[in-house]
Amino acid sequence: MTAKGSGLPFGIDFGGSGIKGAPVDLARGGFAAERVRIDTPQPSTPEAVAEVFAALLGTFPRSEEPVGVTVPGVVVKGVVHSAANIDKHWIGEDADRLFTERTGRDVHVVNDADAAGLAEVRYGAAKGRRGLVIVTTLGTGIGSALVYDGVLVPNSELGHLEIEGHDAEKGAASSAKEREDLSWHEWAKRLTTYYRKLEQLFSPELFVVGGGVSKRADKFLPLVDIETEIIPAQLRNAAGIVGAALYATEASD
Ligand code: BGC
Repeated sequence: MTAKGSGLPFGIDFGGSGIKGAPVDLARGGFAAERVRIDTPQPSTPEAVAEVFAALLGTFPRSEEPVGVTVPGVVVKGVVHSAANIDKHWIGEDADRLFTERTGRDVHVVNDADAAGLAEVRYGAAKGRRGLVIVTTLGTGIGSALVYDGVLVPNSELGHLEIEGHDAEKGAASSAKEREDLSWHEWAKRLTTYYRKLEQLFSPELFVVGGGVSKRADKFLPLVDIETEIIPAQLRNAAGIVGAALYATEASD
């Protein structure tokens, strides 16, 4: 076996409270070993996070395959360009280079929602769907992935659409439901406004809704009153890790 062929690609999901990672079996889109979680350091500067990545990778057998890392911000050619809900030191950071240097692995960063979107289209709720699929993640912010005929158009950032004079994610993310103690009905009204705006702009074939709250999709998706089919994500908390490993493998080919 060649060095490149040894071992498995690895996915890391970098979030506000935890950094989670696992080697990924891309043939079936699942973890190849149990996932490991380490608390996100505070402040979560790129330098501090790089140390955690190195430690995390060190708990698994050595592999020459690439590592994908999700980042909740715009990523262009490995450089992070926005940081709505993370430490501002990320802006302008050449994250691919920093993490590759610190871990000794071939690291590729990808927007968190783009990773989830790739995973849902390849293995999950939107598997095999053609046309435009919009995957949204509802969490602290709203992440979005635009996937057309299986091909990702990265960094769509549709959580920052301006709706009624406000950044959409401020009023419609699941953090807004918590913060304002909204009922499922109240929150679904806001989601209806949000998804209607997306329908008007993009006329997608399908919406897929991910993020932690999607495990309670039965409570709110039936209340979202739009024309387009809207369904819950399937990969749940595996989507970031699996999508990141997939992205890194395709980026390094
Ligand atoms: C960020 C996006 C991210 C989303 C979900 C937004 O605030 O701008 O890049 O995908 O949150 O984490």
